[in-house]
Amino acid sequence: MEFAAESCLLHKSVFFIILMSLCLSAFMGAYSRTENLSMNQNSESSSPFPSNFLFGTATSSYQVEGAFSSDGKGLSNWDVFTHKPGKIMDGTNGDIADDEYHQYQEDVGLMEEIGVNSYRFSISWARILPKGRFGKVNKQGLDYYDRLINALLRKGIEPFVTLTHFDIPQELEDRYQSWLSPKIQEDFKYYADICFKKFGDRVKYWVTINEPNVAVIRGYRIGIWPPSRCSASFGNCSHGNSEKDPFVAAHNLILSHVSAVQLYRTKYQKKQGGEIGIVMDAIWFEPFSNSLEDKLAAERAQSFFLNWFLDPIILGKYPSEMKEILGQDLPEFSKYEVEKLKKNGIDFIGVNHYTSYYAKDCFFSECEPGSGASKTEGFALYVHDKNGISLGDKTTVDWLYVRPQGLEKMVTYLKERYNNLPMFITENGYGEVEDPNSTTRDIVNDVQRVNYLSSYLNSLAKAIRKGADVRGYFVWSLLDNFEWKYGENVRFGLHHVDYGTLNRTRRLSALWYKHFIAQNLPHKPPTLSIL
Ligand code: NOJ
Repeated sequence: MEFAAESCLLHKSVFFIILMSLCLSAFMGAYSRTENLSMNQNSESSSPFPSNFLFGTATSSYQVEGAFSSDGKGLSNWDVFTHKPGKIMDGTNGDIADDEYHQYQEDVGLMEEIGVNSYRFSISWARILPKGRFGKVNKQGLDYYDRLINALLRKGIEPFVTLTHFDIPQELEDRYQSWLSPKIQEDFKYYADICFKKFGDRVKYWVTINEPNVAVIRGYRIGIWPPSRCSASFGNCSHGNSEKDPFVAAHNLILSHVSAVQLYRTKYQKKQGGEIGIVMDAIWFEPFSNSLEDKLAAERAQSFFLNWFLDPIILGKYPSEMKEILGQDLPEFSKYEVEKLKKNGIDFIGVNHYTSYYAKDCFFSECEPGSGASKTEGFALYVHDKNGISLGDKTTVDWLYVRPQGLEKMVTYLKERYNNLPMFITENGYGEVEDPNSTTRDIVNDVQRVNYLSSYLNSLAKAIRKGADVRGYFVWSLLDNFEWKYGENVRFGLHHVDYGTLNRTRRLSALWYKHFIAQNLPHKPPTLSIL
């Protein structure tokens, strides 16, 4: 399989393209034989993906846009954080990133080549409101997103827009500690209002917040992301309380979310006809053993990681395990807030799924030192092997283990818990650390990424066949981009980016995805005639 893929790489000429397509066919044949992913299974007649399914790619503002202080943009929390020494592993930042702010047309062209029918991107809050609600709206910021949305629509690509993907105006942090203050709820609503009003005539899919669970754990519990808050026993921070702040921040995130949803429902949805949801990081937790204690730990892990947000947003209350364990440390919703939550549920759950972990009990037993576990919740978040055997293939990214069956399990779990509410897989992708000595051939020959994507899509297909209402799938990411703490060193792209020249080079996975989409969305033929 590797030989088939490797032996046909690497010229930008037509010759190269023909060779790549031949190579890809050989590769696909080999792949479907060896991995039992029959392409017939996804053929026109038997594709499990409905004909209006969204196949897309995803990015976020801070990770791709660059232009961090151009055209009136204000500083975001990530602009400030990455400029502090020692915060980012390779010392890079998102000042330029992929420069999508200037190269968006080229990037839309890359999507067109693949044949995606949707692009998930986020709006930079600080580009629209450089000082949050304490300053003026930046017209040049609005103009940029107008241009991007129009360029997408011209190519038949549906914009799928997130209002905040970890980056917020620094002003909100400086003035009132952002998510730690209830003040942010009105500010978020004010910002959402501007976006719905300006772009809602063309944007039909809105995400309020990306992965609030991750933002809160990394920013307020272990302190490795802005605003760098944690207790001494959880990390290296100068201030913060890891046992309390995350729950306060989460509470304000939930209430900010619901304020934006309520606004959309009452003022815009009828007229604009769109949908609104939230995106969660959804790790699948396997019990470490068959013991009742580990099974309960896996349930607690889901509650403390995922249902923490989804239960209030969908059911109007925190999970019972959280209430029992946290008591007073878990903020309470007022009667009015409960009503507001219940009345303003979401239209879809956005699921970011990459990996699975074991959940190992330490509620009824002692937590292993160094496992990252807290006695409070009683499980360790990142256990990935048992007696030296990993629960999925290791990658060069420390947190990423390849376990495709986790996606089917995750989707099925959500289907059952939330009454088959529509879902979008808003992110799924394969990251790797780039070896500085790699040749162009190595860089584009991303066979592992192809294997990863096809096996996860296969797993998703199984869940859909069993009745899960999944309406779209987005590969993270269209192109290599600024991977937060890891900087430019970890790459997830269907396209390689040379950060010196900003040249984009198509990887094998982009061709594979093109082929996959063409087989599963037969009504939208690929634009390139080679496949
Ligand atoms: C999820 C986040 O939303 C995204 O920003 C990040 O780059 C990917 N995971 C990969 O880590």
